[in-house]
Formats: sequence, structure tokens, C-alpha cells
Amino acid sequence: MEERENQLFLGDCPVEALAEAFGTPLYVYEEEVIRRQAREFKQSFAGAPVDLHYAMKANSNPAILRILKAEGLGAEAVSPFELRLALEAGFAPETVLFTGNNLDAGDLRYAIGRNVNINIGSLKELDLYGRLNPGGRVGLRINPDVGAGHHHHVITGGPASKFGIYHDQGEAIRELLTRHQLRLVGIHSHIGTGILRTEDMMTAMEIVCRTAQDFPDLEFVDFGGGFGIPYRPDQQPLPLKELGQAMTERFRVFCADYGKELRMKLEPGRYMVAQAGTLLARVTNISSTPRYTFIGTDSGFNHLIRPALYGAYHEVVNATAVRGEKIQAVVAGNICESGDVFTQNADGLEPREITRPEVGHLLAVLDAGAYGMSLASSYNLRPRPAEILVENGLTRLIRRRETYEDMVRNLVSGERPFSSE
Ligand SMILES: Cc1ncc(COP(=O)(O)O)c(C=O)c1O
Repeated sequence: MEERENQLFLGDCPVEALAEAFGTPLYVYEEEVIRRQAREFKQSFAGAPVDLHYAMKANSNPAILRILKAEGLGAEAVSPFELRLALEAGFAPETVLFTGNNLDAGDLRYAIGRNVNINIGSLKELDLYGRLNPGGRVGLRINPDVGAGHHHHVITGGPASKFGIYHDQGEAIRELLTRHQLRLVGIHSHIGTGILRTEDMMTAMEIVCRTAQDFPDLEFVDFGGGFGIPYRPDQQPLPLKELGQAMTERFRVFCADYGKELRMKLEPGRYMVAQAGTLLARVTNISSTPRYTFIGTDSGFNHLIRPALYGAYHEVVNATAVRGEKIQAVVAGNICESGDVFTQNADGLEPREITRPEVGHLLAVLDAGAYGMSLASSYNLRPRPAEILVENGLTRLIRRRETYEDMVRNLVSGERPFSSE
């Protein structure tokens, strides 16, 4: 991303030309940034016996999956359809992890039939898995009693989290493994997302390693994802190189104590794709109240829900006129809810400094590549945006804009008298 002649360029393409060619709202992903993030991550853990599995919930567009596969990553899926998409995108089953939660027999049967690595997240689920696949291999997601993340909704470890088997339930785990003749090959954990402090990762790692010591047949220990990126200009990035070294060293000591060289697994999602994605929206309106100037756009929380859901920060830039007179304004969408605002925090509206826009200008919502499109909806029957991949002045449409026909396809009028049979 760079500015040229006062306009934003993405992947060497002027944003006005992209919007002209593909329309707005539009998700634009810079391939170079995805590859840069993947390489930086691999380098940071170069000394470890590590397998990286991209957490596809962050962004599951197959074009992006294929880039990360080409960079040597496997995939991490949480539902049967994610799993199916990963396999259809070309990931070999042995490079895919399946770590759902509150799974039913259908979910588990599907995953078992695909020969992927399954991580089970509760004792009841372990019992069900054992009945469906007696004598099988299994990984277990444990809750290490600590959690971290950018918002309480995304903390997935500790007593307030629904995820995983508490780390102190070894006895019950062993009983179920024996009952179903299961081979426990992996211990898995994931404490949250958007983590920027190495201490949080290291604290969890400590407990996970301690738990893993109690199980003799392991092949891997999985420390999950959660690696954050700085969204605010004043946020310090996660020192990934330092964290990579610390985790590599701790894992070396763990393997020495364990008496066997195991694989370390990691599941980065956000880190790979967040900074590669920009949401482009057109300014449709500018209005004011006694307190605020509102810039209205043709997008909204139906396309990027993170600010409304978590009060998450995304930098917003006037992409048509990057430089010029600045104003303080609130940037909003076209959805019929007052929370439909891109610039808000946990306490409410957060006006931002932005170059004075005119109706018709393009706004760029930055760092929108992770948990943007994958959480998008067609609320208000506003179609989901198109997605394109850009690199060196070349563009590729990787998802066409949703149409009215797409949205009404499943609406049927199968009128029948109700019968419980
Ligand atoms: C089990 C698991 N692994 C990996 C991730 C990816 O997290 P992140 O995108 O923060 O790396 C998640 C996200 O919630 C997850 O639940």
C-alpha cells in the first residue's frame, strides 16, 4: 500500500481504477503482504520443529488458502464445510487440523471420514468420538486456565471460556482413552486472538507443556493461534522474532524432558491476512449533528463487523485524497442500526481525523483482511462485497459480488400441514 499523487495504491493499482472496474464496496487483498507475513512467521520459528496451520476462519477465500498452501502452511478448520473447502483447495488431509467445538455426531463422522487430524474439545465429545472411531487417533484441546485477547468475546482460555477440557482433568481423559482404546497423539490449546504480549503466549505454553508431560504417546503439541497485529498507530507490534525464539527454546526443553522429539504446531489466522486486506467504500453522504460530523458510506457492519462487535479499531483513510485539510468525523455505513459505525470503541463513537471527503470519494478501511469478509452477512438484504487479489498492477476477481438471486435462492414456500412424523 502506498500513496501516489494523493491517491492510495494497492498492489500497484490506483484505488479509483479498482473501484471503477469492480464496483464498491470491495475487499482488496495484496498478495505480497500475505506472502510477507507467512515468510516472516516461518523465519521467526525457523529453529523449531514446527508445522504451521492457517486458521481459515480468518479468511477462507480459496485463492488466499492456495497462497498460504504454496507458502508451506497446512490448514486449521472448525466446521465440516471449512474442512471440505480446505480439502477442495488442495490441502492434503494430513496437513489439516479439525478443531470444532460443541460438535455433533454428523460433524465428527464427516471429519473422521476425511482422515484429518481431529482435536476434541470436551469429555462428552471425546466419549462420542470414541464410540464413532474406537481405536482411532485423537488430539485433545485443553483449557490451560489462562486466556488473553483484544476483547472478552475472543478470550478462549480460563474459567469463562466454553472451549477445551480443563487441564486438570487428566484422570477423566485417561478413563475415556482406555474405554475406547484411543491413541492420544496431540495436545492442543488456543487461548484467544489479537494477542500482542509474548508473556500471555508463554504463560499458556508453560501450562500446556506441563499437561502434555502426562501423556506418553504424543506426536505433537499445538499452541494454537492468537498472534496479534497492531491496528492502532500507537500499538506496539507483537515481537514475533523474540516470541519465536522463546517458544522454540521452551519447546526444545519440553522435548528433552519428554524424551522424544515432537512436532510443535501453530495456527495463525489473523497474522497472515489482516494487514493484506482493505475494504473500499464510497462516500454517499456527509451530515452533522451538534456533536458530530458523520461520513456515510455504501458499506457497513454487514461487511466489517469488528468495530460494532468488539469496538475494534480500524484506520480509515480518504483514499481519493490522502492529503489535504483534515476534519474530525465519524464514519458510518448504510445499515439501519445506530451501531453501524466503523469508528467506535467500547465506550461509543470515536471521531477520527480524516482528509475532508466529498460525496463520491473512496474511503479505505485498513487491516480488514482477517475476520472481515468471513464474518460478513447480507443483513438489510445488502449484498456481500466482491473480493479481489492484487499484485504488481494485476488484479484477480476472487469472489463476485453477491446478487439478489444469491440472497433469495433458499427461500421456498414448501407449504405442508405440520406433522411430527
Ligand atoms: C482453535 C483456533 N485456532 C486458531 C485460531 C486463529 O486465531 P488468530 O486468528 O488470532 O491467529 C482461532 C481463532 O479463534 C481458533 O479458535
